Amino acid sequence: HPLSEIPGPKPLPVVGNARDIDTKRLIQSVMELADRYGRIFQLHTPAGAMYIVSGLEMVQDVCDDARFDKLVGTGQRQLRETHQSAGLFTADTTDPLWKSAHDILLPSFSTWAMKGYVDPMVDIAQQLMLKWERLNPEEPIDVAGDMTRLTLDTIALCGFGYRFNSFYRDTPHPFVEAMLGSLTEGVKRQRMLPIQIKLRRGAQRRFLANSKYMDDTIDAIVKERRASGEPGTDLLGHMLVGTDKEGNTLPDHNIVAQCGTFLIAGHETTSGLLSFAISYLLKHPEVVARAQDEVDRVLGTDPDAAPTVAQIGQLGYVRQILDETLRLWPTAPAFTRQPRSPGETVGGYGPFDPGTGVIALTPMLHRLPEVWGEDAREFNPDHMATERLDALPPNAYRPFGSGQRACIGRQFALQEATLVLGMLLQRFELVDHADYQLKIKESLTIKPEGLTITVRPREGRT
Ligand code: HEM
Repeated sequence: HPLSEIPGPKPLPVVGNARDIDTKRLIQSVMELADRYGRIFQLHTPAGAMYIVSGLEMVQDVCDDARFDKLVGTGQRQLRETHQSAGLFTADTTDPLWKSAHDILLPSFSTWAMKGYVDPMVDIAQQLMLKWERLNPEEPIDVAGDMTRLTLDTIALCGFGYRFNSFYRDTPHPFVEAMLGSLTEGVKRQRMLPIQIKLRRGAQRRFLANSKYMDDTIDAIVKERRASGEPGTDLLGHMLVGTDKEGNTLPDHNIVAQCGTFLIAGHETTSGLLSFAISYLLKHPEVVARAQDEVDRVLGTDPDAAPTVAQIGQLGYVRQILDETLRLWPTAPAFTRQPRSPGETVGGYGPFDPGTGVIALTPMLHRLPEVWGEDAREFNPDHMATERLDALPPNAYRPFGSGQRACIGRQFALQEATLVLGMLLQRFELVDHADYQLKIKESLTIKPEGLTITVRPREGRT
C-alpha cells in the first residue's frame, strides 16, 4: 500500500498535526492517537512526516537489523553536538567510534561483569535504606527524587569511581545541575525548528557552558586515573585498557563522551522503573506479599547481610515485577528506526527511504491483547512468568530497544533495580498514605508524577 493510505489525523496547512498533540504529554498523546488510528499511523510536522508503529508485524519489520538501523533523532543529535565526541547512545551506527566503543564495552556489561558491580551497587543502596530507616513515621518520601539520587550515584560509582553523594545534599551536585540543564534544553530543542534554536542565544550559551563543565569534570577524572597507573575495574578502567577487534584503543575524548552518556542514559530510566514499580506495589498487596515471601526466603531476615550476586539472581518474582512494570511503562518509551536502502516496506506500506524515521511506540506494542491476553492493560507480574516469556513472538517485548543498537546497560539496570527493590521489600512496608493515582511526567524519559509514600519498618527488620 502507498504511504498515503497510512491512517492518521487530518493535517492542517503549515502546522500539520501540531493541534493533535499536547507537547507536555507527548507520549501519552501519541498513545491515544495509536488507540484511535491503529498499529501504524502518520503525523505531519513542519519538519516532515513521522510514522508511528505499535503492531507486531510492523515492529518486527523495523527491528530487522539487516533492513533497518537506528535513526539518531533531533534531541539526541542536539545532545551530541556540543561535545567533541559522540557516546554510544547518540552516535550514528556508521561512526567508526560507535563500533569500537561497542566492541570494547560489551564485555564490561556482560553477565560475568555484573559481579564486579554488586559491591558498589549495595554501597549506594544501603545509603537509601539508611535514609528511609531514619525518617519519622509520617514523613512523606519523594520516591522519584530518592530513586534518582540512587541511580545517579550508582552509575557514577560503577562507571568511574566518583561519588556524587546525592543522599548527603539538599541541592544537586554541580555536575548533576549541568547535566540536567543540558538534558532539559535537549528535550526542548526536540520540538523546535533549527531557526528557533538559533535565535535562543542565551540558552545556547548555557547549553555550551553546561556541556563544557561536564566534559572538563570527567576529563579531569580520566587524566587522574591515567596518571595513577592503575586503570581500575570500573567501566572507565575497562575503557582505558580495552581494544577493539582491530587492536585500537578509544581516544580520551570518546572515553569522556561515554562516561557522560552512561550517566544520561543510565539514571532517569532506572529511577523511573523503580518509581513505577513502587506505584504499582502500593495498589497490589497480593504481589507485595508474594515478593516478600521470596525476599525473606532468598535474602533472609537479617538486613545487615549484604545481598550477593547469586541471591539477586534468585529473586525471580521481584524481577517479574520489574519486567511487568517495563511492559506497561517502558521508561524510554520509543525508539526510532530508518531503512538502510530505499524502497523498504513496513507492515506492507511503502516505500520508506533512508532518513525517514519510523518510531516504535513500545507502551502500545506492549499492550497488544493477542500477545498478553484480555488483561493486557492490567499490572500482573504473572505476564512475565518464564513459560509465558518463552512463548512470546519475536520482538513483542522491547523495553530496551532492538538489535545491535539495543541498550548496553540492560543487565546493569535490572541487577541494580532487583537488588534495590529486594532490599526495600526486605525492610519496609510501603504505605500508600495519599491514595496515589498514577500520573505520568514526561521529559526525555517518563516517570510517575507526584508519587509520595511513607514507610514502616517490617517487624524485627531494622
Ligand atoms: C540504549 C532503555 C538503562 C546505557 C537504550 C535504548 C533503550 C534503552 C530503549 C535504545 C535507544 C534507541 O534506540 O534510541 C533503557 C531502560 C533502562 C536503561 C528502559 C533502565 C530501566 C541503562 C543503563 C545504562 C544504559 C543503566 C548504562 C549504564 C545505554 C546506552 C545505550 C542505550 C549506552 C546506547 C547503546 C547503543 O546504541 O550502542 N536504552 N536503558 N541504559 N542505553 Fe539504556
